[in-house]
Amino acid sequence: MACGFRRSIASQLSRVLDLPPENLIKSISAIPLSIKEDVADFRLSVDSLLENNSDLSRPDIQDQAKRLAEKLKCDAVVSEISAGPRTVNFKINRELLTKAVLQQVIKDGSKYGLKSELFSGLPQRRIVVDFSSPNVAKKFHVGHLRSTIIGNFIANLKEALGHQVTRINYLGDWGMQFGLLGTGFQLFGYEEKLQSNPLQHLFEVYVQVNKEAADDKNIAKLAHEFFQRLELGDTQALSLWQRFRDLSVVEYIRIYKRLGIYFDEYSGESFYREKSQEVLKLLDSKGLLQKTTKGTAVVDLSGKGDPSSLCTVMRSDGTSLYATRDLAAAIDRMEKYNFDTMIYVTDKGQRKHFQQVFQMLKMMGYDWVERCQHVPFGVVQGMKTRRGEVTFLEDVLNEIQLRMLQNMASIKTSKKLEDPQQTAERIGLAALIIQDFRGLLLSDYQFSWDRVFQSRGDTGVFLQYTHARLHSLEETFGCGYLNEYNTACLQEPQSVSILQHLLRFDEVIYRTYQDLQPRHIVSYLLTLSHLASVAHKTLQIKDSPPEVAGARLQLFKAVRSVLVNGMKLLGITPVCRM
Ligand code: ARG
Repeated sequence: MACGFRRSIASQLSRVLDLPPENLIKSISAIPLSIKEDVADFRLSVDSLLENNSDLSRPDIQDQAKRLAEKLKCDAVVSEISAGPRTVNFKINRELLTKAVLQQVIKDGSKYGLKSELFSGLPQRRIVVDFSSPNVAKKFHVGHLRSTIIGNFIANLKEALGHQVTRINYLGDWGMQFGLLGTGFQLFGYEEKLQSNPLQHLFEVYVQVNKEAADDKNIAKLAHEFFQRLELGDTQALSLWQRFRDLSVVEYIRIYKRLGIYFDEYSGESFYREKSQEVLKLLDSKGLLQKTTKGTAVVDLSGKGDPSSLCTVMRSDGTSLYATRDLAAAIDRMEKYNFDTMIYVTDKGQRKHFQQVFQMLKMMGYDWVERCQHVPFGVVQGMKTRRGEVTFLEDVLNEIQLRMLQNMASIKTSKKLEDPQQTAERIGLAALIIQDFRGLLLSDYQFSWDRVFQSRGDTGVFLQYTHARLHSLEETFGCGYLNEYNTACLQEPQSVSILQHLLRFDEVIYRTYQDLQPRHIVSYLLTLSHLASVAHKTLQIKDSPPEVAGARLQLFKAVRSVLVNGMKLLGITPVCRM
């Protein structure tokens, strides 16, 4: 991609520098519009060239760039070559640029940006992404929401680039909370409520039993016994637990569907009850397990008895902990999927947890721990719905839908929609995702519904609006000018800017692929939408000669196609009307 321009520049450079073109491609980049001082389209960074090719000698860089620029010649592709500070700049033949970019976008369609020389030779990998992972009967907090959309984005990106991705939801479906829940349900649970709204009812029971247990020691004792029965495999206790879990999973699946998200596996901590015991034995056999005077068992991560680096892996009653179960889960997934990379997506509060788990795996001799990666994200403050604090994912979705429906009703230009509910939800989700993905994942931020839904400015609403407008443009004029177009007609600065921007899409994906930060794609798409909105105002279709109108329509079509590609990677479903 980049329409072969990068490759063509590289091949000329390769002759001058006597280096294989593959070594040069990644040092050549499309120049972002924001920093374009002149009209060059690509630049070769001399620094990156030297970095990537250690055998190149390194006299004065500025001098190098100038000398290099002098040795290169314009050809059918490159119409101007100039030297900048530490760069050589290339301007592409204008007519070729227009034609090639449009053709490439049309030809590659949903693969535009992915089928790029930047990704050529990228080996296909097996990738596991562990994300969302809420805790049954507990709150689905904003952290889970972030994990859900970030994990989905990472999985989408990896999949789009041809990797084989397994999406795992690792439910918090085990632990003392089920002792309480089992006991609570026997005391104040209702079968009908469990059937009709399991997540809500289990949460209510959980809250109530917690309250009671605080005053009534007996309840705490019963809960403890219930959990022990679960741990020992008591069939009656297990069957109640199984029902809680099954009913909850059905609900989760329904709600994730509203988000457009699915999982290949609903796993969970409960799967590792027995395997955790094996892990403890294994740790013991490797001499890594230490019993404490309290009867618990710990692993000394420093190996030097430093009390701050002890990680507890067994309670005094022999039961496992979160960390123990993660050890068992990692080992099991390696056996099952033989992954090349495993990514865990949780808030940064769990950094230490994953460091400890990875360290223990290493001490156990599992070299593949190098393939495990924790992607941490920051804390979001102040997300509240009309029902108060967010308790369920569904609350957030309902709130989004409601607010967006109200917004739509207040805008006079809103179209009559077939399914306003669904449209409102899709726009609202786009808004939420863009707000969340705008900054560094690790940054904390203050949540604001007003900011999320601003229709002007850099929001998901604006992206959806741009998409809908472009779509309606195609509907209005599409049939008239389908094949009749002359790309030579696209020489206005607005068109050229769009084309130059389209040229960069693969680099933006490449960068995102390297650091897993969605903000590169977000800002790219926002710029694209701004460019489209300027062009929409100035580049008339209606009263233009057919070949001009046709070419403009093609350009807008290309914009929409790339917008769709980017939005889908982020987990947004574009709407055609709003
Ligand atoms: N259920 C956990 C929580 O809510 C997140 C699980 C993340 N995944 C993992 N393998 N530990 O905090």
